[in-house]
Amino acid sequence: MKILVTGGLGFIGSHTVVELQNEGFEVVVIDDCSNASEQVLEGITAITGKMPIFEKIDLREKDKVTDFFKRHHDLKGVIHFAASKAVGESVEKPLLYYENNLGTLVYILKELTQKTNASLIFSSSCTVYGQADEMPITETAPVKTAESPYGNTKQMGEEIIFDTCKVTPHLKAIALRYFNPMGAHPSIEIGELPTGVPQNLVPFITQTGVGLRKELSVYGDDYPTEDGTAVRDYIYVVDLAKAHVIALKRLLEDKNASNYEVFNVGTGKGSSVLEVIKSFEKVSGKKLNYKIVDRRAGDITSAYADTTKANTVLGWTSEYSLDQAMKTAWEWEQKVRRKA
Ligand code: WQD
Repeated sequence: MKILVTGGLGFIGSHTVVELQNEGFEVVVIDDCSNASEQVLEGITAITGKMPIFEKIDLREKDKVTDFFKRHHDLKGVIHFAASKAVGESVEKPLLYYENNLGTLVYILKELTQKTNASLIFSSSCTVYGQADEMPITETAPVKTAESPYGNTKQMGEEIIFDTCKVTPHLKAIALRYFNPMGAHPSIEIGELPTGVPQNLVPFITQTGVGLRKELSVYGDDYPTEDGTAVRDYIYVVDLAKAHVIALKRLLEDKNASNYEVFNVGTGKGSSVLEVIKSFEKVSGKKLNYKIVDRRAGDITSAYADTTKANTVLGWTSEYSLDQAMKTAWEWEQKVRRKA
């Protein structure tokens, strides 16, 4: 069965390509390489023994999208990761984000509604909940006004798919709302490759650990949490990748309850920034250089998932603990620096 993975050279995309190939799917990757390198193909091949088909396409070029679907009319599924993801940049360049993240989604949906019978898995985000009123967060928690154009593209993306599914009975879609993905493949052949200074906690920690950054700034210790630092749900990237394959199979086997479904993908466990630092210190045996600074604008206090729906309906559970995931992130960071 042939599956298209857009953004398949990115962090979550590449791990999902591996899991799909391990399950015997034929994978076609589209990536414009704006935030990923073609070298990732080598890592995927080293793990799976198979090089996926790769087409370098910018999905904003509608003619190329149409042409692609004409050539691959036998696709059974599309996992759509391709998107811009820097929250701060999205505030500076909203139109870039609306074009990249929503324009391209519309082009893909046009193809899926017209010419193919392929199912869709969409990368959504826990950012749609904003600061939820209750923890853990269930899928029925209200969607709050987005803090950034990036967050807005995830909310609107879900709505666009929902509206399209409503009038297209043959189209089946699942949106996965990720919490905070982290880690690298256990083979250490692929992992996270942030460009420039990382905005996310885990790559900033590992880069500090390896000496690339002087110290980590912990954004606030006056939150109403146990140790005063903000709490998130850190989900191992391979566990997250597996959730995509399970969701896709649900659609391919017609097991879905309706033609548009939403699932949280997290561990169900909240960890504070200080707990994440402790995990790093434990698995690396190194002391991390950090200081407490003011809160970061736009940050929420706490977000962790109620995973009951994913556990019971999808039959998916996360397997790796924070420490196990951190160990892979640390090994990956050291490998990347040795190569640099
Ligand atoms: C985690 C915690 C920071 C960096 C991200 C995306 C969001 C969504 C989920 C995809 C926070 C603290 C961080 C640092 C720190 N992803 N921190 N020092 O903010 O939960 O959201 O993942 O859709 O869109 O932005 O993740 O890793 O940036 O931060 O103290 O140098 O670590 O304040 O509490 P976040 P993050």
